[in-house]
This record gives sequence, C-alpha cells and structure tokens, in this order.
Amino acid sequence: MNPSQKNRKSDEPKESSMGRQTFQIAIDGPVAAGKGTVSRLVAKELGFLYIDTGAMYRVAALLALRHGVSLENESRIVQLISETNFQMRDPVGEEKDGRLVTILVDGEDVSWAIRTEEVSRAVSPVATLPKVRQVLVKKQQEIARGQNVVMEGRDITYRVLPEANLKIYLTASEIVRAKRRHFQLLTKGEIVEFQEVYEELLKRDKRDKTRKTDPLKIVPDAWVVDTSDLTIEQVVDLIVAKVKIMRSMITS
Ligand code: DC
Repeated sequence: MNPSQKNRKSDEPKESSMGRQTFQIAIDGPVAAGKGTVSRLVAKELGFLYIDTGAMYRVAALLALRHGVSLENESRIVQLISETNFQMRDPVGEEKDGRLVTILVDGEDVSWAIRTEEVSRAVSPVATLPKVRQVLVKKQQEIARGQNVVMEGRDITYRVLPEANLKIYLTASEIVRAKRRHFQLLTKGEIVEFQEVYEELLKRDKRDKTRKTDPLKIVPDAWVVDTSDLTIEQVVDLIVAKVKIMRSMITS
C-alpha cells in the first residue's frame, strides 16, 4: 500500500495510473440474491465495467471437468488456469441471448457451458482451493485496476477490492432466493422440486460461509441491501441513486 492510499477514505475516488479518478463498487452476497442481474444493470446505467468473478471460478471448474482433473488437484487446476486465455465482455450481436456476460476461453464461447448444473456442483469445491483463489483474485484485481467497475462475488468487499468506494452486501431471505432459483431452473427447462432447490441452496450457503479461505461475510462498512421485497428495478435505482450522491459529494 502506498502512502497516499493509506490516508485515503474508502469513499474518496482513486487516482488511476492515467491520473483519472475511478469509482469502484464491490458487491458480495449469497447465491440467488440477484447480484448478477443487479450488478449488470447498475454497471450499464453508470457506464461502468461489470465483472462477474463467479464466472472465473466456474471456468476453473469447467477446465478441471474437461481435462478429467480431480476437483481437489490444486496445482493442476492452477496450471490449467494459467495456460488459458480468459476474456470477459458485454454480449454483442447474437450473444444477446439472455446471458449477462460473454465468457471466452481460448476464443471459445463458454458463457452457457459454465452455467450447467454439473459445473454448478463442481465449482464449490474448486472455489475452496487457496491457490486457485490466489491466482483468480490477482487476475480480478488486474482487470479492475484504473477502471470504474461493478464487481460481484463473495470476497470482493474485503479481499479483491478492499478499498472500493462503495461496498454492498446484497441478500434476500432463504425462501425468496430458493423461489427465484427454482423459477430460473424451470424457465431453463430443468424440472426440479422446490424442496430440492431449497435444500441445495442451504448447503451452498453453508459452504460459502464456512470455508477456510475467504468465506462469504458481511464487512463492517458494507451497506446491507435486502432484496426480498424489492423488484430488480427498485434495487438498481437505490444503488444508482446512492452512487450519484456519493460521486457528486466527491466532485463538489
Ligand atoms: O456467483 P456464482 O454462483 O456464479 O459463483 C460460483 C461459485 O464460485 C460459488 O460456489 C461461489 C464461488 N465464488 C467465490 O468463492 N468467490 C467469488 N468471488 C465468486 C464466486
């Protein structure tokens, strides 16, 4: 940390290497809290870069599955990640098919391949591997450097962007999140019982919150937004309004 960073309050804008001031929004929260949709829309409204860090863990899991590598083989998974060219961009042209973001792995579009139930099950153990996290956190910090970003995940507010201008913990009740997840699966044509979805969600919550390395948690300076009784538009409006006020205070 350099001396100018040390004395900077977290709600002040950062100077990029180009001398441009940046504003960074870090969003953490449990599964199906609406982080992806909300972050993407907030980023669009503000003209910021949207970064889905979960997609990066999903790519790591996909690579392990495709190469027949055990989900516990940390060094081999780290090697696979470092040998791979990874790109994330806003969907363009025919890619606008409902996805939030386009993910390219060595030029191959894996945006949907990383969202299957098989990858969803495999990603949780992969995301507990400390060296995998180390490599991905570094990549995430490189992507965000000098940019206005909305970055979402589980450890963004305290590990990836600990100096973010705005930290948000986005959540909703377990029942509401399970209903949303169930609806998502049904619309994708996957027939599953609500109870099964609910129990899987509780298991994933527990794994995310209790893992040793960088578990999901609420940091003291986070703004906790409970979306249980709010529409997506209401949540987006709330966040955008807050950012506009913070930025106007910074520049005035
Ligand atoms: O948000 P998601 O469901 O796409 O995340 C996929 C997995 O990656 C999930 O098990 C949580 C994990 N994850 C993480 O540990 N840290 C992040 N910054 C983002 C996701």
